[in-house]
Amino acid sequence: MSKLVWWQRSVIYQIYPRSFQDSNGDGIGDLPGIRARLDEVAALGVDAIWLSPIYPSPMADFGYDVAHYCDIDPIFGTLDDFKQLMDHAHALGLKVLLDFVPNHSSERHPWFVQSRSSRDNPKRDWYLWRDPAPDGGPPNNWLSRMGGSAWEWDAATGQYYYHAFLREQPDLNWRNPQVRRAMDDVLRFWLDYGVDGFRVDVLWLLIKDAWFRDNPPNPAYVAGEPEHHRQLQTYTEDQPEVHEIVRSMRATLNEYGERVLIGEIYLPVAQLIQYYGANGEGADMPFNFQLLNARWNAAELAATIRDYDSALPEHAWPNWVLGNHDNPRVASRVGNAQARVAAVLLLTLRGTPTLYYGDEIGMTDGVIAAHEVRDPAELRQPGSGQGRDPERTPMQWDSSLPNAGFSSGQPWLPIATATSVCDQQGDPSSMLSLYRRLLSLRRRNAALVQGAIGNIAADGQVLTYERWFADQRLFIALNMGDADADVQSRPGVALLSTLTARTGVVFVAGANRIAAGEAVIVAV
Ligand code: GLC
Ligand code: CA
Repeated sequence: MSKLVWWQRSVIYQIYPRSFQDSNGDGIGDLPGIRARLDEVAALGVDAIWLSPIYPSPMADFGYDVAHYCDIDPIFGTLDDFKQLMDHAHALGLKVLLDFVPNHSSERHPWFVQSRSSRDNPKRDWYLWRDPAPDGGPPNNWLSRMGGSAWEWDAATGQYYYHAFLREQPDLNWRNPQVRRAMDDVLRFWLDYGVDGFRVDVLWLLIKDAWFRDNPPNPAYVAGEPEHHRQLQTYTEDQPEVHEIVRSMRATLNEYGERVLIGEIYLPVAQLIQYYGANGEGADMPFNFQLLNARWNAAELAATIRDYDSALPEHAWPNWVLGNHDNPRVASRVGNAQARVAAVLLLTLRGTPTLYYGDEIGMTDGVIAAHEVRDPAELRQPGSGQGRDPERTPMQWDSSLPNAGFSSGQPWLPIATATSVCDQQGDPSSMLSLYRRLLSLRRRNAALVQGAIGNIAADGQVLTYERWFADQRLFIALNMGDADADVQSRPGVALLSTLTARTGVVFVAGANRIAAGEAVIVAV
């Protein structure tokens, strides 16, 4: 497997730092807590961890509002704690990825404090300031992704500033070369520090229309969708000039050897793949989020996999994401039984998988009472269902301990369910055991890591495909329905089944019965 770069061979594990492990009883996860759990993360069999933001922040958006790009928030620890975490991870063979949030800063970042101090401040143009419309209202119709106008009035200087998210998150002006240099310095700071790469926050939003034209209405808007979906984001996302910025980030990382650049991009595939750039000069992996809102049926998934695979440019390495801190958990989306099938899917598709902490024990969305809501997306639009607290609840380590072993104090969000790592680790039929078996199988089989994918087909509720490399061929069959079904296979042996007892079962040439909700990997 030597011809692949490390991140092509890797499984990435996303940690939401507030919720992984608290070490000091304040109810909020922190870096020493993560460090204490690294042995378990390595034992799971993943290769890299990505930490959601840990920088100093007023936490209006829980760290996605950065007040200092090159330091650690005291709630998470210190730079030294980060160094220890990173060194420990590296000693265990785990790579460490940081979340880079270049689109916006916190309103408390010194850059913005200066920018808003006067119209002629040298940092004025680091953010997007505009005069009011003739009627005194916002300069155009752009909407915030957190609800309401994206423009905030600043009475002191008589202009509006733009924020794609909260008003506490002013957007930086990426057309300003000084901003670009400052952000390049941030990348270099962490690269010099030794991090292995970045997940770049909202990469497709960095550049806005130079003429600030109104967004057109969205004719397909359906009542109940987030407010900003009322408009097509024609002038606020995926502007052509963004690709040059991605190229310059890539160029900086290239100076440091094999570091990975991942982009958070919610776009249809045809636009998404543009972020790979021409000749691999863009992002290594524009996140492929298609599994997050895929309808769970064999035919649609077969089409999704086929279309994505055939859309990829030749040099582009695929990737798949099953869960993250912004979307309902997979076990809640598809149910507990199908979450096992989803695990097999994620870890047998071609490309780098990203796994969200807690999904390996089948954590479901927490039930958040009104007084427990913390996410600004929900607080600003109550009852909108936009809240992301349910998928951010604390990791469940040991259900015999208070707060599932996450914290000795009151956790910042409630514990979602009763299951835990401790409950599951001795049980061969648990979700955790399934993930461990899958991750270890993946490591040992080149066909899964670097093999081709093909023969993607749906027959009723069964999705099948093959992976092959050199003289190894694997047949994967996933029963997404609730009835047993026959699959046509070549003769072979099941290397893994979600029904533990069926691992090792012999497949005959022709029809083989697989159970409802069963997924199998067969060496054929
Ligand atoms: C990204 C993050 C999300 C955050 C937003 C604003 O989408 O994943 O959590 O709220 O950017 O930074
Ligand atoms: Ca803590």
